Amino acid sequence: MAEIVIVPDPATAGALVADEIARLIRGNPDAVLGLATGSTPVPVYEALPVRLADVDVSRVRGFALDEYVGLDPAHPESYRSVITREVVEPLGLDPARIAVPNGAATGIEHAGEDYEAAIEAAGGIDLQLLGIGTDGHIGFNEPGSSFASRTRVKTLTAQTRQDNARFFDGIQDVPRHCITQGLGTILRARHLVLLAFGAGKAAAVAAAVEGPLSAFVPASAIQLHPHATVILDEAAASDL
Ligand code: GLP
Repeated sequence: MAEIVIVPDPATAGALVADEIARLIRGNPDAVLGLATGSTPVPVYEALPVRLADVDVSRVRGFALDEYVGLDPAHPESYRSVITREVVEPLGLDPARIAVPNGAATGIEHAGEDYEAAIEAAGGIDLQLLGIGTDGHIGFNEPGSSFASRTRVKTLTAQTRQDNARFFDGIQDVPRHCITQGLGTILRARHLVLLAFGAGKAAAVAAAVEGPLSAFVPASAIQLHPHATVILDEAAASDL
C-alpha cells in the first residue's frame, strides 16, 4: 500500500519532494535520480535549485523514464531537451551523468537493453519521480503493459498523443512511438514518488491506488512496491 499525502497545491508538493531529494544527495553524493517529464514534476524542479545551492551535485546521476522515438533529440520537446532545460542546466548537473533513452538510436532494438545495463551499472535508482497519464500510464507504459516489462519501444495510445499535443503544433506532430523504462524497471527503484495534480487525474489516481492490480492501469503496479509515496492535491485525490 502506497503512502498517500494530500497537499493544498502543487508548489507544496514540489517543496516536499525537493526537500527529500536534497536530503538524499546530502547523504549520498553519488545518488541516482529517476527523472520524469511532463508538467507534473515541474514544481519539484523549480523548488530544487535553492535547496541544492550549497550541495555538491557533481557526482549525481540521473535516468529519464522515457523518450519519443523518431523525434530529433535537438527538438525542444524531445525529453532529452526537456531534461536538459528543466533539470540539468538549472541544477548544474553534469550532463554526461544524465541519461535519457535514445529514441534516435539506429539499433533501437538494443537501446532498451543498453539503458537497463546503464541503470544497473550505476547501482540502481534511489528515488524515481513519476507522473501519471490520464489513462493510468507511468513513464510511457500504456494500458496492457506487463508488470515485468523492461525498457523497450512502445506505441503511444491515441489518448496520450492527444494529451501531449499541447506541447507540439498539433496532434499530427506528436510521435507515434516511444522508448520507456518498463514497469519492472520502475519497480526496481528504491523509492517511488508519484505526483498528480488536478481533477483530470482523479480517476487514474483512484484506479492506481485503490483499484485491483491490472495491466490496464499500469500505475497500479506501484501497489507492489514496498516504498511508494503518492502526493496529490485535493482535486487529484477527489475520487479516493
Ligand atoms: C507523459 C509522460 C509521463 C507523464 C505523463 C503525464 O506522456 N510520458 O512520464 O507522467 O504523461 O503528463 P503530465 O505530467 O504533463 O500530465
